[in-house]
Amino acid sequence: MGKYDGSVGEASLKRALISDIHANWEALQAVREDIRQQGIQRIYCLGDIIGYGPNPVECLDLVMSDCVVAIMGNHDQAALFDPEGFNPIALEAAYWTREQLDKSPGGPARVNRRWDFLGELPRRHDEGRFLFVHGSPREPINEYVFPEDVFNPRKMEALFSKINQYCFQGHTHLPGVFVEGGDFFAPDEVDYQYRLGADKVMVNVGSVGQPRDGDPRACYVVLDDEENVVYFRRVPYDFETTAQKIYRIRELHDSLGDRLRTGR
Ligand SMILES: [Fe+2]
Repeated sequence: MGKYDGSVGEASLKRALISDIHANWEALQAVREDIRQQGIQRIYCLGDIIGYGPNPVECLDLVMSDCVVAIMGNHDQAALFDPEGFNPIALEAAYWTREQLDKSPGGPARVNRRWDFLGELPRRHDEGRFLFVHGSPREPINEYVFPEDVFNPRKMEALFSKINQYCFQGHTHLPGVFVEGGDFFAPDEVDYQYRLGADKVMVNVGSVGQPRDGDPRACYVVLDDEENVVYFRRVPYDFETTAQKIYRIRELHDSLGDRLRTGR
């Protein structure tokens, strides 16, 4: 994997920010193609590569080969260590995912490389004015920042005090922009683009593989830091195929397939 080296000149390129793939190969392929069509080469993954979905190995291999930055999500961590606070459906999916990685193809060296990659994922990636986490700037792996948290000024102030300027995150699978001072904008409220300005913002990039905002299309973000604009992208994919795969795997609860159709 080509790690981000922070070299001058590359920093002005567009980046694709993807998160919460959740082992959904059809969604990831569709998003990968959408990124390719825009000529974007730098892909950052904000965690939860695996968990819930039927293709953990394939999705992990693609992130390992194609993402210049990847950070740890709670479901990635759950494959490594015994998860805390997981509901029975998530827990069984995590154990099944662990098994798939253990018996994944390519021989022992390849299997070890996958485990090492997961184990070495950083909790955060900091580029000065841009911070990238899975959950929140305060609890990078586990804390949820929901749209309704704008009504909790103490929480929002604490979160914004942890960032220099702009923070990008996932985890809730609910895309949108939190602006310091108490606003939240869903993508459709800002015409799917948001201009970065003087305000501190937290941008939730949504979920590639298990959207929960009522729109079943895969979601990700393009960050153009020349124009200082964030673009929310929605990409249709064949969720019926993913759902059918889930239904055929006993350890993956049927509801994990059902929810892909409704984006809930
Ligand atoms: Fe997630």
